[in-house]
Amino acid sequence: METMKGLQRTNNCGTISEAEVGKEVVLCGWVERRRDHGGLIFIDLRDRSGVVQVVASPDHDMDSFHKAEDVRNEYVLCVRGKVSKRDQEAINPNLATGHYEVYCDELRVLNAAKTPPFYIQDNIDVDENIRLKYRYLDLRRPEMQKNLILRHKVTKAMRDYFDSHDFLEIETPMLTKSTPEGARDYLVPSRVNAGAFYALPQSPQIFKQILMVAGYEKYFQIVRCFRDEDLRADRQPEFTQMDLEMSFVDQEQMLSMLENMIHHVFKTTMGVETPVPMPRITWDEAMDKYGSDKPDLRFGMEFSNVTEFVKDTEFKVFRSVIEKGGVVKGIIVPGDAGIPRRELDDLVDYVGQFGAKGLAWACFNEDGSIKSQIMKFLGEDTIRNIGKAMNAQPGDLLLMIADKPAVVTRALGELRLEMARRMNMIDENKLAFTWVTDFPMFEYSEEEKRYVAMHHPFTMPREEDLDKLESDPASVKAIAYDMVLNGVEIGGGSMRIYQSDVQEKVFKAIGLTEEESRAKFGFMLDAFKFGAPPHGGCAFGLDRLVMLMAKRNSIRDVIAFPKTQSASDLMCQAPSEVAPKQLRELHIKVDNPKEKLV
Ligand code: AMO
Ligand code: AMP
Repeated sequence: METMKGLQRTNNCGTISEAEVGKEVVLCGWVERRRDHGGLIFIDLRDRSGVVQVVASPDHDMDSFHKAEDVRNEYVLCVRGKVSKRDQEAINPNLATGHYEVYCDELRVLNAAKTPPFYIQDNIDVDENIRLKYRYLDLRRPEMQKNLILRHKVTKAMRDYFDSHDFLEIETPMLTKSTPEGARDYLVPSRVNAGAFYALPQSPQIFKQILMVAGYEKYFQIVRCFRDEDLRADRQPEFTQMDLEMSFVDQEQMLSMLENMIHHVFKTTMGVETPVPMPRITWDEAMDKYGSDKPDLRFGMEFSNVTEFVKDTEFKVFRSVIEKGGVVKGIIVPGDAGIPRRELDDLVDYVGQFGAKGLAWACFNEDGSIKSQIMKFLGEDTIRNIGKAMNAQPGDLLLMIADKPAVVTRALGELRLEMARRMNMIDENKLAFTWVTDFPMFEYSEEEKRYVAMHHPFTMPREEDLDKLESDPASVKAIAYDMVLNGVEIGGGSMRIYQSDVQEKVFKAIGLTEEESRAKFGFMLDAFKFGAPPHGGCAFGLDRLVMLMAKRNSIRDVIAFPKTQSASDLMCQAPSEVAPKQLRELHIKVDNPKEKLV
């Protein structure tokens, strides 16, 4: 193999332009493709900036030509040569550098490469586990490079924004104590304190609030968080938050600051204007109209409550649901009256997964007639009245679910999304932002048989609800907000409690005894006795935000080295077993069969 000795890279492959024509350049990169045309060898040379065509010709330099004969895909080359304009018929309009080529005067093979397990190009159809195992090859693909470059630009824009608004970036510990986000912790055993463990932070929540007590007023951090929870396309065990906290502001000032930050980020990285102020919807309204606390507002299909229309009909199913305190709600699917019966049966199964016991449908045919499986129970007039109230047009389909409110919300919410996908109602180029505000302070955990904080227990209840903390916790709303983009929760935060009597009441409402709250958060409660300012904050899921900006379906595509569904890193094979000596030092015995053999 050769070295670069005596040669210095002068240009990037992807930026060769008119300005370089006639000049000698030195380029470095990987062989994307090599075509042997007998007398001439063409090499598409790729570096981070893009691709340019390199030509090895025996007339030009015999040595380069011979070397080019042996070159294969992904070999690493350094090329010295003159930039020339391609002949008219050889121009490649699909390539940024397609008007030019570089004739080799010298070609050095800096390194060979094995044949890669997949093509280093966009839109490949390769099992994701293979991509993850050979992540360095996957990351070499232009679309992955674009994603990571975008991610860099987004974090830079965020830092610039916060810096220009007097925020300080302050780091908080990774080896710490359990934080209040409620997922399972990743634990790290302590060697020097036998039997004791650190928890990796689920977020910097407690530290950032303590920084407010410490008088830093405006803090931010782009920070890794760790949560041991069930993974999905938009969840990783370690992920990155754009985290911030501010003192002496109210919710209005906070939301305005965050909207402007998002505006700055989209404007500087993509040239896109996002709405300031951003639309808002209360949690109650979001659940009522869309059946979700993260509604996708790229399309309509809002729910209508049709209980009033059907409560006095002959239809036993609906009547008995309503008598037991249930509701009947429906959506209108535009233009889907011709849906085949088989597909309707599919939909019944679909909503069944979310607990619905059935799905009632009515087709408002183009000719003005109506077809419905429950026509004989409800009567045509009732169905027509429902259609009218919901503004159904000829050709539309009405779908209704009757059940307990929570089941209707969930099942109809999922159905709304499914129908939008089936009917191609989602405009992939749209960015539909909304704030969801006024979250309930608590939700009841069936598992734990107690109320738990919906956001976290440091969230401030609305002032008008303070006296209901004990008497009616379910009705208490919090000064908490989520930012939602295209049906994905990209950020969430709240105003915080800063008076200890309110904090005590909240702990009590979630069933924490004084001892338990002291054991968990004692140091924080102590800190709050030394002059805690009014404060609040928010954290954005950076991975999710960049995923949506890059129009990807998984955050794995915007994280350099992500983990699989089962939280493993296929490239470096983590997690893995460790040597018995290491375990002994950490005072740990592992209860698994393999360990017992050692
Ligand atoms: P929260 O738990 O809502 O709030 O998290 C903030 C944002 O982080 C993102 N997120 C995730 N992204 C990828 N993988 C995960 N496993 C994951 N979990 C959460 C989401 C979410 O909106 N300390 C509070 C914030 C505050 O009150 O200031 C917190 O962590 O986009
Ligand atoms: P049944 O009388 O139970 O056969 O129901 C008649 C029709 O109403 C069936 O097509 C069911 O799918 C539908 N249906 C049953 N239960 C519900 C429900 N809870 N909500 C909406 N439709 C239902």
